[in-house]
Amino acid sequence: MSDRTLKLTDQRSGKTIDLPLVKGTLGPPGIGVGHIYRELGAFSYDPGFLSTASCQSNITYIDGEQGILLYRGYPIEQLAAQSTFIEVAYLLLYGELPTAAQLEDFRRLILHHTMINETLKRFFTGFYHDAHPMAVMVGVVGSLSAFYHDSTDIANPKHREISAHRLIAKVPTIAAGCYKLNMGEPMMYPQNHLSYCGNFLHMMFAVPCEDYEVDPLAERALDILFMLHADHEQNASTATVRQAGSSGADPFACIAAGIASLWGPAHGGANEAVLKMLEEIGDVRAIPRYIARAKDRDDPYRLMGFGHRVYKNYDPRARIIRSICHEVLESRGGSDPLFELALRLEEIALNDEYFIERKLYPNVDFYSGIIYRALGVPVNMFTVMFAIARTVGWVAHWLEMMADPDQKIGRPRQIYTGPAQRDYVPLEKRTASD
Ligand code: CMC
Repeated sequence: MSDRTLKLTDQRSGKTIDLPLVKGTLGPPGIGVGHIYRELGAFSYDPGFLSTASCQSNITYIDGEQGILLYRGYPIEQLAAQSTFIEVAYLLLYGELPTAAQLEDFRRLILHHTMINETLKRFFTGFYHDAHPMAVMVGVVGSLSAFYHDSTDIANPKHREISAHRLIAKVPTIAAGCYKLNMGEPMMYPQNHLSYCGNFLHMMFAVPCEDYEVDPLAERALDILFMLHADHEQNASTATVRQAGSSGADPFACIAAGIASLWGPAHGGANEAVLKMLEEIGDVRAIPRYIARAKDRDDPYRLMGFGHRVYKNYDPRARIIRSICHEVLESRGGSDPLFELALRLEEIALNDEYFIERKLYPNVDFYSGIIYRALGVPVNMFTVMFAIARTVGWVAHWLEMMADPDQKIGRPRQIYTGPAQRDYVPLEKRTASD
């Protein structure tokens, strides 16, 4: 809390109340409005939460104007260059970088929880063979509480921690299972000697009849992508996880709710939408036509992978991903016409007055699909890849919220715009206008 306050005056009654400023370590303060309904009989109104902080959190900081992203204070660029996804997971969960011994224990713990109950595997066969993998993810992750209810006493911090570890460990196994379902191939068991990402690549691409060797470049590229996607403070899916968890819901159900929210094309579904958009554009000569559509107010068309609620500058994650694209494609012996197209699209958009004025830059989803494609991941799995990485962030936020003694159920209010009170009209007396 800061000692500065703002004053809010109701001009009709003349009543003035003080609004306390809630200060964090970085970024703008929040205006405490929790008491305004009691004092003034009015709600705050902010659809889409454009100016509303929904909680206090010490996990991730974004400065959207400067294009800065920090996990527990560490810049994303430093983490991407020097850390690993498993270390970042530890950092997000526990708040500090681990010692070598802590990291080894954590790595071993996660890798030894990657198997899923054999009965759970039967769930996959209940889905249609060409089901979208995100649909399967929502269902199977939601069902985990039916298998792991020995650790769902949310009042018990140890139970919460076990559920967190299980989620981080098992989500990649379930994700690979979604892919195998689509492919009609048997699910592969995890291999504990592999790294988190190496193991995921193995579960995706190995088949029982052949040896499979993890490509170190693919493993590292995936590890970096997972670090970049691991958390992003109160985005739609994280806010969904917190909202679901605020009622005391089971952690597996909360993460399934987060996966459902992530699926939308305005959020994590954008990486899939970007690839489809690039394929549809097809040729650099067609770019101006699509830019014109994106600018046309009468056309709902948007450039996918462009724009962000918080970043009004280049998304720092997109910059890192763009440079990994070059590396991965070079190692694969050349370029990808869709990458060339994406680079040109970015260049044209960033020089266009419409995009400059609105501060629309490429976001994390603009280039990630190009790498996934180069690694052999099919387009319908892109958002699933995002979900694997973001599970860490969801779980970290859920743990933070559950440990907060002041945590309350998230129950927003509304401005009612329906009919005023009226009397029920019996059926025989109703006319079309009633
Ligand atoms: N293409 C064309 N115009 C755009 C775009 C775009 N991609 N994004 C925003 N605008 C325009 C929008 O039409 C509006 O113009 P005007 O002021 O003339 O009405 C202005 O920019 C502000 O847009 P907004 O919809 O009010 O902004 P928002 O903060 O509510 O939406 C967004 C943010 C990410 C949903 C939006 O930029 C968008 O739909 N982008 C495309 C989808 C996408 O790439 N999503 C991934 C987001 S990052 C990863 C993640 O969250 O998972």
